[in-house]
Amino acid sequence: MLPTKVNIVEVGARDGLQNEQSVTLDDKVRLINRLSHSGLKHIEAGSFVSPKWVPQMADSALVFANIHQQPGIIYSALTPNLAGLERAIESDVKQVAVFGSASESFSQKNINCSIEESLERFEPVIALAQQHKIDVRGYLSCTMVCPYEGNIKPEQTALIASKLFDMGCYEISLGDTVGKATPNRVEAMLDALFKQLPKDALAVHFHDTYGQALANIYQALLMGIGTVDSAVAGLGGCPYAKGASGNVATEDVLYLCHNLGIETGVDIDAINQAGWEICRALGKQPVSKVALALGES
Ligand code: HMG
Ligand code: MG
Repeated sequence: MLPTKVNIVEVGARDGLQNEQSVTLDDKVRLINRLSHSGLKHIEAGSFVSPKWVPQMADSALVFANIHQQPGIIYSALTPNLAGLERAIESDVKQVAVFGSASESFSQKNINCSIEESLERFEPVIALAQQHKIDVRGYLSCTMVCPYEGNIKPEQTALIASKLFDMGCYEISLGDTVGKATPNRVEAMLDALFKQLPKDALAVHFHDTYGQALANIYQALLMGIGTVDSAVAGLGGCPYAKGASGNVATEDVLYLCHNLGIETGVDIDAINQAGWEICRALGKQPVSKVALALGES
């Protein structure tokens, strides 16, 4: 049965912009400020990773220092290790995310360590975050398909997701990093996960490389998932997953949800405007079909 409400986690300013050409600090701040007036309740605003690995996110501390944070909105950031969390704490970030992988090869390529080592690395990050009363979200990449290993077994994904949850992540965001999954794989993965974790501790995070993201989201919604990650204008991709295109576009998810009678609390026109504006800064058109249909307002 479809949920009556869906939470959108807007990841465009992080997942999107981490894989676009760099935009100015002003452009990022303007984007996040605009998104803050759209009804969104969770905006991922930056990433405290190594600037050598992801130069596009090197100014995340400045982003947090300059955005106008609105009450009732979570502004979160990625923190892969203690160094990242310490930088996030200095920036007074109230929610962070660790990110691991269900695939060994992708773990090595993305964060330069094995799955087991990554979990060991997250332990002190989660402990320090908890001391500071900072909630930690857990991302899991390649939950169904890996660019190096092919299909990932649902049981493997369920195992690593449960470990992240047991370690203290309040929610696990299930990534189809390369956008190759289809609804049958989503169904198999969620069936395995539901045996281990509560539904409301799960979110879906689909990239749209093969155009399957909306179909996959519909499948997840039918199975009772109530949190969906998406990026305004369909920005981005993944620097370590060759050929991966952006996240599913927020505009497209909103159009789907609203026409299914699902409440999101988010104003599609405000998101559309924000999308066209950041795309002007990037010198490109939105990837979102809905944005192209609505046009620049
Ligand atoms: P490493 O090279 O293995 O670790 O990096 P290290 O600890 O040896 O550090 C190397 C250098 O980086 C050192 O500097 C550190 O100080 C520095 P040097 O001595 O060479 O000058 N460093 C840092 N600097 C700033 N902030 C930090 C930090 N950590 C180390 N936090 C690390 C390990 C994980 C840090 C590195 O591999 C990294 O930053 N990787 C980036 C991975 C990334 O951002 N990927 C994209 C985000 S994940 C994603 O998009 C997937 C997701 O969307 C879900 C999905 O779609 O599937 C979430
Ligand atoms: Mg992603």
